[in-house]
Amino acid sequence: MHKQESFYRQAKKESFRARSAYKLFDIQKRFNIFKRAFYILDLGCAPGSWLQVAKKFAEENLIKYKDQFYHRDHYKIMGVDIKKVSPIESIIIIKADLTKLEIQEQIDSFFKNKLDLILSDASIKKTGNKFTDNIRQIRLCNEILKLVETNLKYKGNLVIKAFQGSDFDNFTRKMKYMFRFLKSYKPKSSKKKSNEIFLVGLNKI
Ligand SMILES: C[S@@+](CC[C@H](N)C(=O)[O-])C[C@H]1O[C@@H](n2cnc3c(N)ncnc32)[C@H](O)[C@@H]1O
Repeated sequence: MHKQESFYRQAKKESFRARSAYKLFDIQKRFNIFKRAFYILDLGCAPGSWLQVAKKFAEENLIKYKDQFYHRDHYKIMGVDIKKVSPIESIIIIKADLTKLEIQEQIDSFFKNKLDLILSDASIKKTGNKFTDNIRQIRLCNEILKLVETNLKYKGNLVIKAFQGSDFDNFTRKMKYMFRFLKSYKPKSSKKKSNEIFLVGLNKI
């Protein structure tokens, strides 16, 4: 069976909304991004499989850190997408463009606190022109980085999808100033021919 097909079947069997769920599991396995994560923002969240994964780990954290210094008695997860996303219990989903200023008000009024983890699998609609697609994706990533700057707590973590190509190195450099640890990573379930790559920033400075 083709690898992508097998991830698709697995997602269906485990009732994840998309096979992208396994990219996030893979990133978690490698970098433990959900460590002590209770306040989580997922940008470009439709159809919602990363939200499902985030909820799973946040719920586990409620138990895992019980009686520990880092314990919290609740979690908060918000998803944002231009597309409509079917509801997920205990998660707030906002239908909005993340590049618009109004999103900051929604973040403030829901979290009322800095975030432990920001996830972004947001991607532009590809036109097929690699050069302009790369530039548009990095422009979107730069908008996301502004939200990260304002909302991610000191020592918080970030996962962000970028496209390898022009501007990628500049963007990576920019992220290097923001995090103590920065790695680029292509999960196993990411299509080989796709130029998508995830940047993982741990411990925001
Ligand atoms: C690959 S999908 C995300 C899949 C998701 N992580 C999951 O596992 O279900 C990328 C999403 O980014 C969203 N997106 C792109 N630009 C956006 C923007 N400016 N504001 C909000 N969402 C955006 C798209 O609508 C699309 O749903």
